[in-house]
Amino acid sequence: MTLKVLLGRLVLGVSLMFAASPAMAEGALVAKHPEPQAWSSDGVFGKFDRQQLQRGYQVYKEVCAACHAMHLLSFRNLSQPGGPEFSVAQVKALAASFKYPALDDKGEPIERTGTPADRFPSPFPNDVAARAANNNALPPDLSVMTKARHGGANYVYNLIIGYSDAPAGFSLLPGLNYNEYFEGHQLAMPAPLVSDGQVTWPEGNPPATKQQMAKDVTAFLIWAAEPKMEERKELGVQVMIFLTLLAVLLFFAYKRVWRDVEH
Ligand code: HEC
Repeated sequence: MTLKVLLGRLVLGVSLMFAASPAMAEGALVAKHPEPQAWSSDGVFGKFDRQQLQRGYQVYKEVCAACHAMHLLSFRNLSQPGGPEFSVAQVKALAASFKYPALDDKGEPIERTGTPADRFPSPFPNDVAARAANNNALPPDLSVMTKARHGGANYVYNLIIGYSDAPAGFSLLPGLNYNEYFEGHQLAMPAPLVSDGQVTWPEGNPPATKQQMAKDVTAFLIWAAEPKMEERKELGVQVMIFLTLLAVLLFFAYKRVWRDVEH
């Protein structure tokens, strides 16, 4: 790279920095920092709460799945160890409640019932239909959402219950909704959790408040983004124990080997 090109880039960079500063100075449209939450899956020994994951799946199924796909998940994942651990019978029944397009023996299009091997169904036939139903915004796939956004799970949790009325003087574009946790403060997703008790959980679960539903669906999304997390952490702890013991053994072996040598 010649000196001239380098200088040119430097000048461009500096001028862009200054060009961007008036917008930054306004500050009003920068996303609000999400308040950190305590997740049972946090930390070296973190594990998922099975009941919470089951409740979270129900929130996804009954609320979010109207717009969002999770194409990396199959129904069978819901019964695997380290996840919500629904029973195999429950998973079969769940999958069977969905219909999938298929072809019969003569090649005619038919509908078949779902099986545990099927991926979660997408709510829309394609992206064009998804945009058409959502003010031209595409609801993103939620399979790895907690890893895909800055702020991760805390961001998702705060976003889905962080809706409020736009402040006076804020010009909200038609069809968009005000949410301070979103960059730009207006997004196409309407508040998904609008009232307590929107989902009915089986007996023995905490009341379905907005916060609880948001917490549980986010925990479910953390698991979905890393279904083998518990296995990974358990292996990590075992490896650390092994390495510690090995270090002690090596230390004594070293002492013994060099016992008679002046050093
Ligand atoms: C009525 C349809 C609809 C429902 C129901 C819905 N969403 Fe959305 N969601 C959208 C759309 C549309 C977008 C894209 C928004 C945009 O880019 O302006 C979106 C975006 C998102 C995003 C990404 C935001 C970003 O940073 O880009 C997350 C996370 C999300 N939704 C989570 C959820 C969860 C969790 C639920 C269920 C509790 C849910 N959504 C229910 C339509 C919906």
